[in-house]
Amino acid sequence: MSNGEPMSRMKVAVVEGDGIGKEVVLAALRVLDALSLDIEEVPVEIGYGKWKRTGKAITDDDFDIFESCDCIFFGAITTPPDPDYKSVLVRIRQEFDLYANIRPIKGMGSGNNIDFTIVRENTEGMYSGVEQVFPDAVHSTRVITRRGSERIAEYACLLARGNKGDKGKRLTIVHKANILRSCQLFRDVCIGVADRRKILWEDMLVDATAHRLVLDPERFELIVTTNLFGDILSDMAAALIGGLGLCASANIGEDYALFEPVHGSAPDIAGKGLANPVAAILSLAMMLEWFGRAEESDAVHDAVSRVMATGITTPDLGGRCSTAEVAEAVAAAIGKEQAT
Ligand code: NAD
Ligand code: IPM
Ligand code: MN
Repeated sequence: MSNGEPMSRMKVAVVEGDGIGKEVVLAALRVLDALSLDIEEVPVEIGYGKWKRTGKAITDDDFDIFESCDCIFFGAITTPPDPDYKSVLVRIRQEFDLYANIRPIKGMGSGNNIDFTIVRENTEGMYSGVEQVFPDAVHSTRVITRRGSERIAEYACLLARGNKGDKGKRLTIVHKANILRSCQLFRDVCIGVADRRKILWEDMLVDATAHRLVLDPERFELIVTTNLFGDILSDMAAALIGGLGLCASANIGEDYALFEPVHGSAPDIAGKGLANPVAAILSLAMMLEWFGRAEESDAVHDAVSRVMATGITTPDLGGRCSTAEVAEAVAAAIGKEQAT
């Protein structure tokens, strides 16, 4: 997933967003600080809070700042179900054409051998924005294109390909092709790409996938699916490994990317120091990997594992530590490693 050589000076737009977004971004930046990398952080305020204050959730100036940066590090934004409010996150994904949403699901600690990745198409499907509103009905159009399916299948096949000596991963193509013509296209295109790339594949209906994910999650290696199915399955998968507080993601395009935890702004726990910062910290690790900084990315993963193994966790995992305390412990673990 790296985009090649390490960049020298990185410039990252930092969006704290709403609710726990602010707390987990602060925590992740504390960890980034411990790595002493040459990174310029550019704060950008967008989201529901800004919308309430100014009437706009995002402006053209905000997009100009994003464009002047290499990528975006994002907390979470509240998206109320209000017809006058359009999701800022979906708009950013579409404007920067961040077509691949990569969501690793990996159990931490002994006894949990779950380890798969969800590759979610990120620009079309039920999120196409094509909607017709009538007095007594609303039609939301599910747009699936050959090009959109092909490029997400290619991305998944890249992740499936094994390195020297390792057989690679089995790709599970998840769809609802028994009912939806759009899914028939998605499935057929994915199968074509996987065959061409000589990737071992299987296909599975989305409802059956949900069932098997609960019963036998360890059988999965890599999933590719459409936008809304990927959204739903990833929250479900998070529950298999300890919850949303642990799940990171990367939204990847040709030459731009956005990194964010899978979770949202969690208004039920916001402002209390209860949010688990691990998902945001691991999203930071994905950002470092994308920047070509694999060593630092691994250091963050190692530090998180070591801290969690000592029981320094937030209440969602049964611990008693605050968001800031977990971040501090991860930063200290990185510091110790660098000193040895
Ligand atoms: P949510 O992901 O915010 O929270 C779901 C549940 O998980 C809540 O009980 C919450 O307390 C818990 N949780 C989430 N993250 C946690 C963490 N780091 N540590 C501990 N517990 C955590 O989903 P929701 O409540 O359905 O949505 C709240 C708002 O967030 C909505 O407006 C939604 O649209 C938005 N949202 C935004 C994003 C994003 O910006 N990327 C993603 C999902 C939802
Ligand atoms: C996610 C979120 C977003 C989505 C919302 C906030 C637009 O749930 O990133 O999983 O539906 O994609
Ligand atoms: Mn979601």
